Amino acid sequence: DITLVDAALQVKVHLLYGVMPKLDVITRAVRIENTGAQELRLEKVLSANLDFVSGDFNLLTFSGRHAMERNLVCTPVSQTEQVITSRRGFSSHQENPLLLLAEKSVTESSGTCYAMEFVYSGGFTGLTALDPFNQTRMQLGLMEERFSYPLAPGAEFYAPEVIMSCSTEGLDRLSNQLQRCIRTRVVRGPWRDQSRPVLLNSWEAFYMDFTADDLTGLAEQTKELGLDMLVLDDGWFGTRCDDNRALGDWFVNEEKLGGTLSDLVDTVHGMGLKFGLWIEPEMVNEDSDLYREHPDWALTIPGRKPIRSRNQLVLDFSRKEVVDEIFSRISAVLDKASVDYIKWDCNRSIADFCSGAAQDSGRVFYDFILGVYDFLERLLTRYPNLLIEGCSGGGGRFDAGMMYYTPQIWCSDNTDPIDRLRIQYGTSFGYPASSVGAHVSKSPNEQTGRVTPLATRGITAMQGGFGYELNPAVLSEEEREEIREITKTYRRYERLISTGDYHRLSNPFTDAVGAWAYTSEDGSESLLNMVVLEIHGNRPVSYIRLRGLTAGALYQDTETGRIYPADMLTEVGIPVPQAMGEYKSYQMHLKRV
Ligand code: GLA
Repeated sequence: DITLVDAALQVKVHLLYGVMPKLDVITRAVRIENTGAQELRLEKVLSANLDFVSGDFNLLTFSGRHAMERNLVCTPVSQTEQVITSRRGFSSHQENPLLLLAEKSVTESSGTCYAMEFVYSGGFTGLTALDPFNQTRMQLGLMEERFSYPLAPGAEFYAPEVIMSCSTEGLDRLSNQLQRCIRTRVVRGPWRDQSRPVLLNSWEAFYMDFTADDLTGLAEQTKELGLDMLVLDDGWFGTRCDDNRALGDWFVNEEKLGGTLSDLVDTVHGMGLKFGLWIEPEMVNEDSDLYREHPDWALTIPGRKPIRSRNQLVLDFSRKEVVDEIFSRISAVLDKASVDYIKWDCNRSIADFCSGAAQDSGRVFYDFILGVYDFLERLLTRYPNLLIEGCSGGGGRFDAGMMYYTPQIWCSDNTDPIDRLRIQYGTSFGYPASSVGAHVSKSPNEQTGRVTPLATRGITAMQGGFGYELNPAVLSEEEREEIREITKTYRRYERLISTGDYHRLSNPFTDAVGAWAYTSEDGSESLLNMVVLEIHGNRPVSYIRLRGLTAGALYQDTETGRIYPADMLTEVGIPVPQAMGEYKSYQMHLKRV
């Protein structure tokens, strides 16, 4: 705690550092204390600042859009300030609170690079700029726009923590340091180290159009395919039959479910499966009893038509009475049925930010996120074994702040494996595989129409929070058998995937092959994955070079028994099999002998 004092204003600013030498991580947060007698207003609070006396850097950021999140963008740092921000109230699909600064010559395995990663789920501001002496400044903190926070005499204010890390051995090492920090120091509770259940989610199987028989059928398929959990997605509450209505009415639609929720949960538990449920607590539809009762609970601007997105409005979670009521409705449902898992969704950004209660719009965004965290903390306190998966129109709130409560987050609504390779590639720069919710869905894909082999969908989804999102009843017996095999493969490698180091072995945006590997920290085993993205006649052979192996050791392919020297695997590489067609995939498991 380094305390700075402004005697004139009577303010203390505490710079709070955390040092984790084994992880190569330093964190910084800020606490501001008003020690004077006058009320102050905070107009801008950043959590961390770094100044580099030398270096010629690129800024690496992760921009995107719904269904195509976290695309790597690389721009040279220049005298023109570069501001990376989300003004949407949430960390957002459009930018991610992860900034990397890399020497221009950096590669995955060489060169110096630095990271700042915000442990926060709200809007943010990041910045880089060169000063007139060519020294680089890098900053990350709270969203500046729409922020003006009152600080009464005696009050204090916290700006959340930024994880900072550095590597002199390239981007691979930097990413693994960040991944390890999140996996072991941000994620907590019983699900931090436990294997996560392999799930079947009802969304792409039925959307909101399901019957009680459909759900029982899906549970039977979950059982028959050897999976662990059935997740009932959107559509189980109030009059919810499409996305125009009922958000806020968290009452079980027993007619649609053919009984109480606990009847359904008991049936599913009776089959030896876990049960999961979808919720979207922060949102409301105007066509809902909740909105009819409390129209002032939605964030709107008085006198103006509200801005709708996915036909819904945002509830004012900066107000405790709103959080209390939604919590009491949702916990009344969860108290009656032993739900094992929650998918917490949040399907729009905040646009109208005038809070009816506080009338102090400058604090709404900050207090809103505190309301979300408060709700999540209450859920985990009341149901300590609950596994919560975050979600926000797919990956619109994929950040380390959420990961403190939700150890896995639905990475994108896009389940096309080829697009997913790219989305997961960008995500891997700052987030561990164990945090990435990834599902096998049907082909042709619902979002892109692309046709891909089941095995490729399987390999791509094997990035941590593994599951399925389709109706197995419409598949052939061969496909169902393949699903059983894919699931067995995932279980075999699940520990390696969720705790191993992650290596990006190609760039799926520019290379003809998508390739990545997981290697155990001690280098004793490695799982190599490849997907062919492009094919051409008489194409040159691509060699995929591994990383993370023990130099000088020998490795055996556990399927063929063939032995390879580590130096050959890392210096020459494994040739991508020529016989493969577009979107075919290949997995190779190596053990040190
Ligand atoms: C969002 C989620 C989907 C699904 C729907 C339900 O789009 O990202 O996975 O849960 O909402 O409405």
